[in-house]
Amino acid sequence: MSNIQSSSKIRPEIKEAAARYVHKLFMHSGDSNLVNLLKKEAFKRVYKQMIQEPDSFLPKTFSSDTEPWDGRKPEGPADFLKGPVTLPSLPQIQMQLQRIIDDPNSTISDLAKLICREPKLSAAVMRLANSGLYKQDKPVETPSKALELLGFEKAGGLALGTASLSLFKRTDKTVLDLVKFWKHSIACGVVAQEIAVTAELGDPERFFAGGLLHDIGLHVIFESNYSLGVELFRLANSDGYNLYKAERKMLGFNHADLGGCILEKWKFPRQLVAAAGGHHNPRKIESDPDAMVIHVADFIAQALGYELGISPVIGFIDQTAWDKIGITAEQLIELLPNIQRLIDDVLLILED
Ligand SMILES: [Fe+2]
Repeated sequence: MSNIQSSSKIRPEIKEAAARYVHKLFMHSGDSNLVNLLKKEAFKRVYKQMIQEPDSFLPKTFSSDTEPWDGRKPEGPADFLKGPVTLPSLPQIQMQLQRIIDDPNSTISDLAKLICREPKLSAAVMRLANSGLYKQDKPVETPSKALELLGFEKAGGLALGTASLSLFKRTDKTVLDLVKFWKHSIACGVVAQEIAVTAELGDPERFFAGGLLHDIGLHVIFESNYSLGVELFRLANSDGYNLYKAERKMLGFNHADLGGCILEKWKFPRQLVAAAGGHHNPRKIESDPDAMVIHVADFIAQALGYELGISPVIGFIDQTAWDKIGITAEQLIELLPNIQRLIDDVLLILED
C-alpha cells in the first residue's frame, strides 16, 4: 500500500479497502440516520487518508519481550489510583485557576492577573480569542483585552482546558499514540462546543474544556503500566471487543470511570467531572448534559477520523442522548466544514 500515490481517479482497490475499514469501524454502531451519514463522511476521509498516509493504517506491533501484565484486577478506579500510577500532579496554575473560577467573589481581573503571569497560557488564550472559535469584531491584541472580551466564564473554562493539555506529556515507552490522543481530545472539544452552540445549550467553552479533558483516564491507564497497555490494546483489537469492553473485562471499569475519579480528586468543576466520568456510562449519557454532549462528540470525532488508534471498532452512539440534544443529523453534517476549519485552527494554536 505504501506505493500508492495521490490520484484524482478512483482506485477500486483503495475504495474496497476503505469500505472494509469503515464497515469494521462502525460494526457496533447501529444504523441510525446519523450513523449512516457519518459513515459516508468517514468513507471519504478514510479513502483520502489511505492514499495520502497509507502507513497510518499499518498494524501496531510490540516487542515480543514485553513482560506480561500481572493481571491484578483493581477494586475500582480509586483502588487503581492507589497503585503505581503515573498520575501527573496537578500543576499550581490549574489549582489557582480553579480557586478563582470557584470563588463567587472572583473577578475577571483576578483571572487576568494569574493568566498574564503565564506567557504560554496568555498567548494561547489570546490566539484562541482571535480564532474562529470566538467571533470578535476586531482583533484582540492583549491578553487582558482577550479576557475582557471573552468574559469570566469563557476565559476561565478556556484557560483551565488549555492549561490541562500540558498534563498529556509524552513518555519514552508508550502504547498510546500521543499525537492521535491529542488530536482526538481537541476534535472532541471542538465538536462538543459546536453542538452546544447549535443546540443552544449555553456555556459552549465548558463543553470545549470537557472535550479536551474527557479521556484523561485513558491517558493514565496507558501511561501507567506498559504491559497492561499492550494487553489492553491486544484485547481491544480482538474479535467482539472494542476499547471499553476490553477495559471492563481487564480492569472492571472503563477509562471514563477513572477520568471522573481523577478530576474529582483534583476538585475540577462539577461539569468537567461529569463529562469525563460519564461519557461512556449510559445512565449519565442520557441524563447529564455534559456527559451527553461529550459522548456524542467523542463518537463524531472518531467517525471523522480523529480516532485514538487503539481499536479498529468504535462503540455506539446513544440514540436517546442524540435525540435529547435536539439537532438533526443533517444539521450536524452541514456543520462539518466549519468544525473541520475550527479543529485545524485550534490544532495549530495548541500544538505550539
Ligand atoms: Fe473515552
